Amino acid sequence: MRTPICETLGIEFPLFAFSHCRDVVAAVTNAGGFGVLGALTFSPAQLEEELTWIDAHVGGRPYGVDIVIPAKYVGREAGDMSTADLKKMIPENVSKFLNDLLAKHEVPELPDDFGGFSEMLGWSAGGGRAHLEVAMKHPIRLLVNALGPPPEDVIELAHAQGILVGALVGTPQQALKQKQVGVDIIIASGTEAGGHTGEVASMVLTPQCVDAVAPTPVLTAGGVGTGRQLAAALCLGAQGAWTGSIWLTTNESEEAESLIEKLLAATSSDTLRSRCLTGKPARQLKTAYTMAWEAEDAPDPLPMPLQFMAVADANNRIWKHSQTKHPTAGNLTGIAVGQIVGMMNKRRPARELVQSIVTECAETLSAQAELLARSTQD
Ligand SMILES: Cc1cc2nc3c(=O)[nH]c(=O)nc-3n(C[C@H](O)[C@H](O)[C@H](O)COP(=O)(O)O)c2cc1C
Repeated sequence: MRTPICETLGIEFPLFAFSHCRDVVAAVTNAGGFGVLGALTFSPAQLEEELTWIDAHVGGRPYGVDIVIPAKYVGREAGDMSTADLKKMIPENVSKFLNDLLAKHEVPELPDDFGGFSEMLGWSAGGGRAHLEVAMKHPIRLLVNALGPPPEDVIELAHAQGILVGALVGTPQQALKQKQVGVDIIIASGTEAGGHTGEVASMVLTPQCVDAVAPTPVLTAGGVGTGRQLAAALCLGAQGAWTGSIWLTTNESEEAESLIEKLLAATSSDTLRSRCLTGKPARQLKTAYTMAWEAEDAPDPLPMPLQFMAVADANNRIWKHSQTKHPTAGNLTGIAVGQIVGMMNKRRPARELVQSIVTECAETLSAQAELLARSTQD
């Protein structure tokens, strides 16, 4: 199952792992897959530290970085607005809604010296470009952009350094647009995927994207966690699978124990696609927090990046509270995760997971080949 993209990237298996956790990225890369570090949650200085660590732990094997330069968000036309000006656009009813919700679940205020996630993260061209500058100083083989086509100068810069460019899409029209601006690898993200996603399922989206951009390689994203699903992705014409959720419950995952337990117990019906995380539809774990945003009297989520800014303080409070033994500690905690969560039932090392997916994929494909051989003999 070494598809052409394996040759291009110099990897053994067409299994791509998106993660914000450097240990997962290194483990997958070292196991013969392709790890991709999500830059979004890091400051440029932290990203530099993470990539330096990865460089020291992958022995020259190829890996990638994922940045977010959204095509559409508030302030983009103005060349990025200041945080202070953006903050003025957040209506008061959102803070009141959040304060009431957190009070109901007994989530305390943050101590003065708390340093959690910043309120802006990388949801802007400025943030994405700062990550890009850091990433380009490392021996990355692939640069991926989420939420729209990467700017042309970013693609040119990457190509000039021999770095391939990938982008996530939710429709075949978006795939074609990405190909036209020079993107090398299309990541067809089905609605079942964790994080930002469209409305079309992978089974339908993948072959449409494959046909729309051929011979540009396509990866299937969304709902891949076993070898059977990787085999299905290959049968749909994809050259591999781009995965995210399944690494959240590996031994290397840095998520809180209480959250990992929630993920292990969740079924595939326990996710929803909601704008409450970032302002754009993102699939995530259903929790008391997300359900509160679904209620009739809840405010409408704000456009990107205002929503993330509006909920940043609440997110930090919820996270800090989740680290305690308080009876309500885990009530509101959640995370972006896809429908594959229903198949994430045990913790294990990332290397073992790679091996089990690859082995099952090979077994599945040979069983299908045998079936075909038998039916032609009959
Ligand atoms: C916790 C989490 C965070 C994510 N954050 C990002 C991100 O910052 N940038 C991005 O391009 N994709 C992000 N994604 C989406 C993944 O890149 C990937 O497309 C998705 O996880 C694939 O579907 P799956 O979750 O069913 O494996 C995230 C996914 C998860 C689960």
